[in-house]
Amino acid sequence: MTRFSFLFLTGLIILQRELSEVLSERQEQQADLPPRGWNSYDSFSWIISETEFLENAEIVSKRLLPYGYKYIVVDYLWYRRKVKGAYTDSLGFDVIDKWGRVIPDPGRWPSSSDGRGFSELAKKVHDMGLKFGIHVMRGISTQAVNANTLILDTIKGGAYEESGRQWRAKDIGLTERACAWMPHGFMSVNTKTGAGRAFLRSLYHQYAEWGVDFVKHDCIFGDDLDVNEIQIVSEVLKELNHPILYSLSPGTSVTPAMAKDVSGLVNMYRITGDDWDNWGDVAAHFNVARDFAAANMVGATGLQGKSWPDLDMLPLGLLTDPGSNEGPHRKCNLSPDEQRIQMTLWSMVKSPLMFGGDLRTLDESTYDLITNPVLLEINSFSTNNKEFPYATSRKNIKSDKCFQQWKSRNLKYESASDTHVLGLSSCKDQKAKGWAVEAIDEDIEKICWKDNIGSKHKPPLCLYKKKPLLTLGEEVIYKKQYQGNFHLLTTDTMDFCLDASPTQKLTSQELQTSSSSRCRWNSNQMWELNLNGTLMNSYSGQCAAVKMAKANFISGGIRSWIATGRRGEIYLSFFNLSPDRMVISANMLDLDKVLPGRDLSKASCRYSELFSGKDYGVAKQAISIEVEMHASALFILNCISLG
Ligand SMILES: *[C@@H]1O[C@H](CO)[C@@H](O)[C@H](O)[C@H]1NC(C)=O
Repeated sequence: MTRFSFLFLTGLIILQRELSEVLSERQEQQADLPPRGWNSYDSFSWIISETEFLENAEIVSKRLLPYGYKYIVVDYLWYRRKVKGAYTDSLGFDVIDKWGRVIPDPGRWPSSSDGRGFSELAKKVHDMGLKFGIHVMRGISTQAVNANTLILDTIKGGAYEESGRQWRAKDIGLTERACAWMPHGFMSVNTKTGAGRAFLRSLYHQYAEWGVDFVKHDCIFGDDLDVNEIQIVSEVLKELNHPILYSLSPGTSVTPAMAKDVSGLVNMYRITGDDWDNWGDVAAHFNVARDFAAANMVGATGLQGKSWPDLDMLPLGLLTDPGSNEGPHRKCNLSPDEQRIQMTLWSMVKSPLMFGGDLRTLDESTYDLITNPVLLEINSFSTNNKEFPYATSRKNIKSDKCFQQWKSRNLKYESASDTHVLGLSSCKDQKAKGWAVEAIDEDIEKICWKDNIGSKHKPPLCLYKKKPLLTLGEEVIYKKQYQGNFHLLTTDTMDFCLDASPTQKLTSQELQTSSSSRCRWNSNQMWELNLNGTLMNSYSGQCAAVKMAKANFISGGIRSWIATGRRGEIYLSFFNLSPDRMVISANMLDLDKVLPGRDLSKASCRYSELFSGKDYGVAKQAISIEVEMHASALFILNCISLG
C-alpha cells in the first residue's frame, strides 16, 4: 500500500466516523419537526391487508413524501385473524409466538409467515424512502395470559428466570387492569417485577429487529394512563440501536399537567379522544389545543429529541367507521370548509399530521388541502403558536334560510334560556344516572333524562331508541359485538343517530346536540341502558351525562390563532364555529400583545388571505373579514418597520 493511499484510507475512516457522529446526533434529535405520515385506522379500521397497506405506501412515497409525509403506520390488531367471530374486542383470534408476543396474522400479512414478522414489509417500506410504524397495545394480551406463555429474557437469552424458577404470563398479567376500551383483549403487566419488565423489553427488541421506526402505543394515556409502562418502554427504546419514534394514545381527559409527566419520555401524545369526521369532534379540539400551546408543550423536550401534542389523524377522503369490520366505503362527512378548519387548526397548533383516508381513491381537493405549502410551512416552522384571544365578531344579519333550518334542528332541546347539553362521563359517576325508558307505543321507545319529566313548560331531553336492523351478513359480523345495544335517534322522524366519540367528553359544555349523523353500524353510535340508569356508549365505554348550560354555548363562537413564520411573517387565522355568518376582526395593536418583541405601531404590514388568494394591501387599524358558518380565513402579514 502506498503512503498516499494509506492517508487516503485514514481520511475516509475519519470521514466515516464524522458521518456516524452526525447520524447519531440526528438520532438524538428525534421528531425535531412535527411528524407526518399516513395511518390505516380511519380508512381500514383493523382489517387492512398487506397488499392494501403497500398500495397506500406506494402512493405516500410518490405523492406525499415530497411534502414530508414519511411515517406509514399499521393501526391496531394486525395480529388478529380476520375470520368469522373476530372483531375489535373479541378474544381468541390473535396470533402470538411462544413468548406471548403478538405477531402479524400471516393470513393478512403473507410476508410475515415462517416467523419473519414485519421484517420484509419494513424493508419494502424503507426501499420506498419511507419509515414504517405499528400500533401496539399496553401490557400483554389476554390470550398470552390464558396460554400462560414463558417470557423471553433478551439479555441472557432463553426463558426469563428469577428466584430459581421460570416466570410465565400469568405471573405478570394484571387481570384487574384490563384496557378499558378493549377489556377482553389486553391488560397491564406488573412492571414491579423483573419478568414484567423483561416482557416489555422483549416486545420492543423484536419491533427494532423487524425494522419498525414508529410505535403508536395505545390504551396507555389519557383515561388509561400507565406512567410506569411508558417510562420502561421509553428506557428500552433508548437502549436500542435502531431509533423508534414513540407516540402515545388515546388522549381522553388529558391535561397539560398530566402530559408534563410523560412528554419528556415520548415524541408525540394524543390530547383528545379519537377524532372522526363530524363537526363536534373538530370543534372539540380548540380549547385543548389552546391549553397545550399556552403551557409551552408544543415542541417541548421529548425522547431523544422533541415531543408534540397530537390532535389525532385527519379523517378526510374515503373512510370507514370506528370499530368497523369494513374497509373504506364512505366519504368524509365534513364540509369542505370544515375540512379546511381542521387542517388549518392542526397546522397552527403544529400537531403531527397523519392522514387517515384511503389514498388509492384520493380526490384532488383533499390532496391539495393536505399538501398546501403554506399550511405545511406553518406546521413545520412557525413559532409563537397560540390562540389569539382578542378577535371580535358580530353576527351578519343576512343569515339565509338554510342556516335557519340548520339552527332550528340543532336548538331542539333549548328551553327558555338554559339548554340541555349532552356529554360523556365515567359510568361510575353518580351524575350519569337518570336515564329511563318511556314507551310511546309498540314501535317506538323513548329514553329520557330525569329533569323536566312531567313538566308542562320545559320539555325533557329524550332520545328515541331504535333497534338496529341487521342484514344477514351484518348479523354474522355484529350480533355478538352489539347484543342488547341500540341506536339513539335525535328525533323520531329522521334517520340521524347520536354519535359519541370520546373527544367530546373534553368539552362537554360545548358539546352540541348537533352531534348526530346518519345511522351507521359502528360502535360509536351504539348504546346500552344499564339497570342503574346509566346510558353506556360502546366505543368509549363511557356514559351519557346531561348538564344544563346557557343557550349561547350552542353557538360555539369564534376563535383565532396566531403564529410567526421563519421569515418574520405573521400568520393570523379566524375560525367561525358558530352556525351564523360572522364578521371577524382583529385590531392591529392587539397583535403586539401576543407577539413578543414586535412593535406593529411602528410598522407597515401588507396582508393577504390564503384561501381566496386576495391581496388586501396595507393593513390599517384592523383586519376584518366576513366568514361563513363553520369556515375559516388565514391571513399572512408581511410587516416592515418604519422606525
Ligand atoms: C351502573 O352500572 C354499570 C354496569 O353495571 C356500572 O359499570 C357502573 O359503574 C354503574 N354506575 C353507577 C353510578 O352506579
